Amino acid sequence: MRIAGLGLVVVKERMEGGGDWGAWLIVSSFLLDTKQHLSFCAVSVLLAIFLLSSSYYYHYVKSCRHNRRVPPGSLGVPLIGETLQFAFYNTCPIGSPPPFLSSRLRKYGTIFKTHLMGYPTVISMDLELNKLLLSNEEKLVQANFPSFIKKIAGPLLTVHGACHKRFQELATSAFNPAAIQAHHLIPVQEFMCSILHPWLHMPIVDAQHECRKFTFTYIVKSLVSLAPEDPKTELLMRNYLLLGIGFSAIMPVDLPGTTYNKVLKARKRIITIFSSLVQARRKIVEVECKDFLDMVIKEKDECGKHFSDQEIVEFIFFLVIGGFETTSILLTNVMKFLSENAHVVNELRKEHTFIRNNKKANEILAWDDFKKMQFTQLVIKETLRMASIAHYVSRKALQDIVFKDMVIPKGWKIMINFSMVHLSPSHCKNPLKYDPWRWKDTERSSQAFLMPFSGGKRSCPGSFLVKFQASIFIHYLVTRYKWERKMDVDGQLDVVSSLSLPTMRNGLFIKVEPL
Ligand SMILES: *[C@@H]1O[C@H](CO)[C@@H](O)[C@H](O)[C@H]1NC(C)=O
Repeated sequence: MRIAGLGLVVVKERMEGGGDWGAWLIVSSFLLDTKQHLSFCAVSVLLAIFLLSSSYYYHYVKSCRHNRRVPPGSLGVPLIGETLQFAFYNTCPIGSPPPFLSSRLRKYGTIFKTHLMGYPTVISMDLELNKLLLSNEEKLVQANFPSFIKKIAGPLLTVHGACHKRFQELATSAFNPAAIQAHHLIPVQEFMCSILHPWLHMPIVDAQHECRKFTFTYIVKSLVSLAPEDPKTELLMRNYLLLGIGFSAIMPVDLPGTTYNKVLKARKRIITIFSSLVQARRKIVEVECKDFLDMVIKEKDECGKHFSDQEIVEFIFFLVIGGFETTSILLTNVMKFLSENAHVVNELRKEHTFIRNNKKANEILAWDDFKKMQFTQLVIKETLRMASIAHYVSRKALQDIVFKDMVIPKGWKIMINFSMVHLSPSHCKNPLKYDPWRWKDTERSSQAFLMPFSGGKRSCPGSFLVKFQASIFIHYLVTRYKWERKMDVDGQLDVVSSLSLPTMRNGLFIKVEPL
């Protein structure tokens, strides 16, 4: 069933825009889903096989005709390429490369070809190529996502050109250092303390869940001023967590009862809540901007045109997707690595006790205090290196891309993998060792291989806020508490699935005591 489902997804992807086929597939996938009418199942699987192999051979033949060499590697077996290997050999503990990639790295080097989900794909673990591609967004490559993901994330995911630029600039101006100093310095600390304090009274803390709670309540507070205790906050968070499941849906077919259907419904519920918030806000005339929503409502383009309600709602929806799980992954990973590296915690304690010593007991930190957190920044860098938030971004070649003696043919997909660069011995010594000090004496130029927030036009506009939040988290954590890591329920640590965001499957359990 699962394989048939996978086949269908692939077929759907290849048929993007093909209405008749789409209708047919919906019928057959429905039958697949209800496990009835085996003959229909068989027909749909056969069709999937046919489409897949024709696309496979089409690309295979095309790739052989090229004068220059396409990257080394194998397109796998006809039909599914290497999709199954990719899915099964791609799970690994945090901070180590998955077997699917490390074996190919050994065999073919940093750039190789494969065939995934019905498309010939190049996976790049090459810093130089990654940078070339990211700095030539919309010339050489274009953001590329399967249509089922586009449907969940909304139109902003793939928006490009002037429109993308406007959103990107707006988000950047809302989260640059000056804005953080003005609007986030105090609230982040208040939120952080209110999340951390109850940890003392919990027999066991799921740090991952708590970090999610912090990130989510904080993000909706700063975007649309929803209070943590507002029932809408909780409702929104539940629906956003559902979206996360959708991104790794194995069978994204929108029919009653399927997971994908539930995910799309969650998206609708979120949009409805945000719409009503935006409409309500329109009725109030604010003199001062108190949150992000006020700011976008006031915003005009050069011709004096304001954003429509729908644009604003999609924008906010998208910012929460971009900021929620990602920030909480960083905080969770900080917790994980600190739990394993007592000497790092000691060094952090020195730095933060020093900062605390110049303050009254519960006094809130000032901007200058944040600037004193030098070692803390190294810890955050090292955490981002070992455990990237987004391992890769997916692009499509807009033209034949020539790189060194290779060519990536037009239309192929390219996965730009940052994590593998971060874990490469050619960029840092002992890459599998957690060592914040390594950043201390490395020169600026040799640090440029770290790209945890992607790069180019589509780099993450919230990167500074994330690092700021992590610094504050570390401050209150090491100055007030000590903690110990506990085993997961099934005795396994750090199981993450690489198909979706690298969140820990079971959570991260700790026991906390006052310092
Ligand atoms: C990129 O690398 C990371 C590990 O370093 C891996 O978990 C992830 O699946 C990779 N993604 C792709 C598409 O290559």
